[in-house]
Amino acid sequence: MKKEFLKSFSKLTKNEKIEVLRKGIAKSDLKEIVSSYWHSNPGHQKLFEEFSENTISNFYLPYNIAPNFLINKTIYHVPMVIEESSVVAAASNSAKFWSERGGFQSSVISTKKLGHIHFIWPNGIKVFENKFTALKQEIITSLSPITEKMEKRGGGITSIKLKDLSDQLKNLYQLEFEFETKEAMGANFINSCLEMGAETLNKFVVEKLNNPDGFKIIMSILSNYTPECLVKCSVETEIKELETLSDFSAQEFAERFETAVRIAQVDPHRATTHNKGIFNGIDAVVLSTGNDFRAVEACGHAYASKNGSYSSLTNIEIKNDKFKYTLTIPMALGTIGGLTSLHPLAKLTLEILGNPSSSELMNIAASVGLANNFSAVRALISKGIQAGHMKMHLNNILNQLNATTVEKTAAIKYFYDKTVSYSNVKTYLSVLRK
Ligand code: MEV
Repeated sequence: MKKEFLKSFSKLTKNEKIEVLRKGIAKSDLKEIVSSYWHSNPGHQKLFEEFSENTISNFYLPYNIAPNFLINKTIYHVPMVIEESSVVAAASNSAKFWSERGGFQSSVISTKKLGHIHFIWPNGIKVFENKFTALKQEIITSLSPITEKMEKRGGGITSIKLKDLSDQLKNLYQLEFEFETKEAMGANFINSCLEMGAETLNKFVVEKLNNPDGFKIIMSILSNYTPECLVKCSVETEIKELETLSDFSAQEFAERFETAVRIAQVDPHRATTHNKGIFNGIDAVVLSTGNDFRAVEACGHAYASKNGSYSSLTNIEIKNDKFKYTLTIPMALGTIGGLTSLHPLAKLTLEILGNPSSSELMNIAASVGLANNFSAVRALISKGIQAGHMKMHLNNILNQLNATTVEKTAAIKYFYDKTVSYSNVKTYLSVLRK
C-alpha cells in the first residue's frame, strides 16, 4: 500500500493516530494489538504517555534481577532491563564466581561534567583574555538564580575556561564550563546554565568589547563526553582460582584470557564487540534506573577512542600468580531527577539497590559491565558463546513456532545435550506433532 505523509499527526488523539496508522498499513487488528499493551490502570498509562510524544502503546522489555553482586563489600541484587537471552545469566554467573573471591572493587575517580558555549569571534583571543575575569564574574552572577539550589547541595559551576579552537575551525572559541551536579545527572541544570550563560556572554560582548561585529554564538550544550566522570572497577584473584572456569589449566586460561583482552586492545573490530559485551550489562542497569543509556554509550565509546584508535575499555594484569582485570569507564549517572523518580520501576530499582548515591550507582553499573564482559571472554576462549546462547534462545524459537507448554517441556529435555538451531527445533516439533 502506498504510504502518505500524515498531516498534523501530533494533534490527533491517541485513537485517531491508531486509526490513521491502521488505514495506512491495512492491518485490521492494529488497535487490538496496541491496546492490549496499554496499562490496565489508566493513571499509569497516562504517566507513560506523558514521558514522550505520539505514544500509541508501551513497548515491553523484561525487568530481571542479577543477584549476589559483592561490590566494595556490599551485596547488591541488581535489576537489569534487557531482552537479550543469556546476559542476565552471564552477569549472575560472574557475580557468583567473583563474590567468592573478594567481589568487585570499584571507585569513582571524579564526577566532573562538562558543557560548552561555542562561538565565533573574528578578532583574536587576546580581546577575550584581557576581559576574561570580568566576563566570568558576570556569568557566575547572572547564573546565581539557577545555581543557588545546586550549590546548597554541594554542587554548581566549578570552573569556566576560555578555549581557542581557531586552528581547527576558523574563528571558533568556546567557553568550557565544568560542573558538579552531585546526585543528579544534571543535563537540565547544565543546559539551563549554558543557555543563560550565553545570553550574558552576548550582552557582555555587545556592551564591553570594542568592535563586536562578527561575534556569533553558535550553540550552548552539555557535552556527553565526560572523560573525567570516571569509574574504575576491578576483580582480582590468584591464578589457581581460575581452574574451574574451563577445561584448560588455570594458567592456560589466564594466558588465553590475557591474549583475548590484548586482541581487543589492538583491533578495533574486536574492541567494538568486546565493549558491546560490557555495555550489555551497563545499559541494562542504566535503563532499569531510568538514566540515559544513549549518553552513557556515547561517552564510553568516545573514551574507548581517546588514544586515537578505538580500543578495549578493560585492561588485564597478570603478575606474581595474580590475575587482575579492570574496567575503566566514564559515565554520567543520576539517582535524582529525570525519570529516576517518575518511572515507577526506575524508582523501584533504586530501592532494590538501597537508594544509592550517583557514585555508588556508577560502581554498580561498572561492576555489572565487567561481570558481563568477564563471562563473555571466558566463554569465547573456551567453549564459545553459541552453546549457552542457543540454550537460552530455545524458548524464543519455541514461541516463534507456537509450541504448547507440553511441547516446550519435551523440547527443553530433548535439547539438553543437543545442538539448538531453528531448523533442528522445527524438525523436532514436526516429528513430535505427527
Ligand atoms: C553478545 O551480546 C556479546 C558478546 O559478543 C561480547 C563479546 O564478544 O565479548 C558475547
